[in-house]
Amino acid sequence: MFGKKILGIDVGGSGIKGAPVEIAGGKMLTERYRIPTPADAKPDDIAEIIGQIVKYFNWRGPVGIGFPAAIRDGVALTAANIHKSWIGTHIPTLVKRVAGVNSAAINDADAAGLAEMRFGAGQDKSGTVMVITVGTGLGTAMFFNGTLFPNTELGHIEMQGKDAEKYASDFTRKNEELDWADWAGRFNEYLITIEKLFWPRMIIVGGGVSKKHEKFFQYLNINAELVPAQLRNEAGIIGAAVWANQLRV
Ligand code: BGC
Repeated sequence: MFGKKILGIDVGGSGIKGAPVEIAGGKMLTERYRIPTPADAKPDDIAEIIGQIVKYFNWRGPVGIGFPAAIRDGVALTAANIHKSWIGTHIPTLVKRVAGVNSAAINDADAAGLAEMRFGAGQDKSGTVMVITVGTGLGTAMFFNGTLFPNTELGHIEMQGKDAEKYASDFTRKNEELDWADWAGRFNEYLITIEKLFWPRMIIVGGGVSKKHEKFFQYLNINAELVPAQLRNEAGIIGAAVWANQLRV
């Protein structure tokens, strides 16, 4: 309990969630604190909410932020489900200015993947392992012998003439009122497409749907070993904190 602690924050399409994380054990030290994501949130609006989470925990130490975009050297490069003005934003600079703390930013699915590989369903798994987070979008993280290949963004491969995440995300399941079997049929097609490209040994299904896996896992049939995420919706927070630790923020 006396190891290093970092505040992990997961910026998602519907909520921004944070909790202090004990790094060595990969454990959240408190319940997560969640603030709904405002529609069309611009960089300053989200940074403001990050500031509220920092204040809530009275935090002065380092912060790790998982963010739903491709992130290179702290800069958001894409904006699929977020305001376009995020593109080109250096997240740690913004967060320092608005919230007054030092931080590191990582793609949200990469964050969840890091946590699952270190503390969850992918522990000690060698070879190629993919973590797919299913929520507002489809997030992907790819590992080979435990090392992350960042920003794979495989939620945007084309399926049925559209972005895969418009076809098979959880948002689409709700939006098109698909039942579990119908949605799972689409998700299985997506998994097979990914499988044909990378032949992972294991696919870990995370994000909001992972806690409902018993509703749809029976409809999935692929070659790789398929397992639900173990850390559920804590993975993004824990992985963001682990990332900030790796970057020695
Ligand atoms: C974004 C990814 C993100 C995923 C899950 C996609 O739309 O492009 O960066 O990981 O959604 O949030």
